[in-house]
Amino acid sequence: MAKSKTVYTCQQCGAQAPKWQGQCPACGEWNTLVETITEQATKRQKTQGSARPVNTLAEIATAHERRFSTGMQEFDAVLGGGIVPGSVVLLGGDPGIGKSTLMLAALEHLPAGMPALYISAEESLGQIKMRAERMQVANSSLSLLNETDIDAIVATIRELHPLVVVLDSIQAVTTGDLSGQTGSVGQVRECAARLTQLAKEQDIAVFIIGHVTKEGVVAGPRTLEHMVDTVLYLEGDPVYHYRLLRAVKNRFGSLSEVGIFEMTAGGLQQVANPSGLFISGDTEHASGSVLTVTMEGSRAIMLELQALTVKTGFGYPKRTTSGYPLQRLQLLLAVLTRRAGLALYEQDVYANIIGGYKLEDTAVDLALCLAIASSVRDVPLAQGTVVVGEVSLSGGIRPVRQLDARVKEAVNLGARKILVPQLGYDTIKRYAGEVDCVPVQNIRDALGLL
Ligand code: TYD
Ligand code: MG
Repeated sequence: MAKSKTVYTCQQCGAQAPKWQGQCPACGEWNTLVETITEQATKRQKTQGSARPVNTLAEIATAHERRFSTGMQEFDAVLGGGIVPGSVVLLGGDPGIGKSTLMLAALEHLPAGMPALYISAEESLGQIKMRAERMQVANSSLSLLNETDIDAIVATIRELHPLVVVLDSIQAVTTGDLSGQTGSVGQVRECAARLTQLAKEQDIAVFIIGHVTKEGVVAGPRTLEHMVDTVLYLEGDPVYHYRLLRAVKNRFGSLSEVGIFEMTAGGLQQVANPSGLFISGDTEHASGSVLTVTMEGSRAIMLELQALTVKTGFGYPKRTTSGYPLQRLQLLLAVLTRRAGLALYEQDVYANIIGGYKLEDTAVDLALCLAIASSVRDVPLAQGTVVVGEVSLSGGIRPVRQLDARVKEAVNLGARKILVPQLGYDTIKRYAGEVDCVPVQNIRDALGLL
């Protein structure tokens, strides 16, 4: 056994110190020293500098991409077409968002007989059993382990030879070779490195779960992003039921796919047709409600925007939004006032996106403007009207990206009339037979259609 020693290495300049210090003695940066292991110095010296065999591209056998399914199309798509053997995936997200639930569901639906191991370092086996019962998980090829020592975990994996491993979570495992606390950057990195090495060596697909705090200061998992092949984030508002699974890095696929799930009493269920989640259905005839289509990656999602305007009681008019940037709302109100002559200076304005959806897509600008105007005038839009378009400061309607996909989604969901930017109209003309496509040039024209 090579003697290993722990030192503190600066993440900024690489200088080493024998003890932890708040400030790096070499470069003077604060909080950059992380506990690391230096080992096998003698072995490294021996092999250093000797020539290695090289290959041309033609000599390398093409590795036919083998993948297997998680049984959930949404998950597979985000992974780039399924699980790649030997790949390491980091699954991050806020505590309680559903990471353990998602992974348990994925393990349940692996191809029959495929050996899998779920390592829980946080919850007892009894707790996992309870969750599994709730989700009706009954995969007999799935083994469970409750362990926090990464070296014991590695030894178990070596003996068991599973093809898929889930570690829940990286912040709860430690190695005795480091003196740092569980969850410290040093521990997290070292444990992940050991698991990654094993994954590559034994061709095991490993999913590492990591909690990410709200502040985005992801001391811990974030430092793993460069070590792993794929980084996924599970997002959503705990108050609402839908969850989005996004890839922020993927060596085996594109980043444009987004998985949409719904948290139900029986676990996370994939949602093939998400548009229904964000439409209230009962307010179609009410004023202030407008349907629009936004994009998540390459997927179009139809959703409902609502605006409510009320005469200001006293003082400044109030502007409140939920799910939509307040600054953008204020900008649109300014455009409506100046370019469309809508008197809003004595109106409180509330804007809301149904279902707790959060978006920053400027393609819904025009829809929100119409929702506001519809509320001010108390005139509902014609039933089945969908509105897409970005609004510029001059009051012009600007083209939006992927207009075709948006119109297609609207048509699929039975839209009768769709307002689109004049400048993109040519690309969607072919839908004119199925739906009444109305090109609009500026905000004044759009309000005129109300
Ligand atoms: P969990 O997977 O434990 O979150 P994480 O691992 O990201 O911390 O999910 C926790 C939440 O999910 C919890 O608030 C309960 C809810 N939940 C359901 O609504 N239905 C279910 O079937 C399960 C298992 C959990
Ligand atoms: Mg969990």
